[in-house]
Amino acid sequence: MKPLIFVNFKAYENAFGKKGEEVAKAIEKVVKKFKVKVFLMVPNTEIYRLSKKTKLPIFSQGVDAIDYGAHTGHIPLEAVKEAGAYGILLNHSENRINLKEIKFIVEKSKKLKLKSLVCVENVKEGKAVAKINPDFIALEEKSLISSGKSISEEKPELIKDFVKEVKKVNKKTILLCGAGISTKKDVVAALKLGTKGVLLASAVMKANNPGKAIEELIK
Ligand code: G3P
Repeated sequence: MKPLIFVNFKAYENAFGKKGEEVAKAIEKVVKKFKVKVFLMVPNTEIYRLSKKTKLPIFSQGVDAIDYGAHTGHIPLEAVKEAGAYGILLNHSENRINLKEIKFIVEKSKKLKLKSLVCVENVKEGKAVAKINPDFIALEEKSLISSGKSISEEKPELIKDFVKEVKKVNKKTILLCGAGISTKKDVVAALKLGTKGVLLASAVMKANNPGKAIEELIK
């Protein structure tokens, strides 16, 4: 199986507006060439625009655990679905929520036919989230995020343990990892450790040429 690659646009300057479109199109061009599965995790303001400009599946970077109603400044799941999202990233280290909120969002995403990807910071949290049955769980070692040092090279034992322990709880959820993934070698190492793919951000979003950067990672 080809690795699953999730590119997290975060709130980098080139995640927004015309620049965001350019990054998405550059990635799409590479994806067509190499036939890998790449997902774009974009700011909520960009979902509608980017879902019109690219065929790549779009993930929201996070929603609120609410239904429609009087919730100023909050975003319900229905809104990102309507805007064109294919899935939702939640509980990223840079935007943590509690287990009750994770449960609400994962369960509602199933009803709305949105994919759910929950980030966790350690094995214990991975096991707790596995009971909720999201489509994907991604282990991200907080200290390595944006560091250029990859989790798959720096913490192989942690990934192995995560895969082993989480599988005991739930065999269906697809397991991923992220943090500092910057080279093809990092991606290959993550797969060898038992994950099905990676989340990455800075290696692509901070590159002078994001298209070339993703090509180096997946070719
Ligand atoms: O969600 C992916 C992210 O947190 C990893 O960031 O910049 O280390 O690839 P980065």
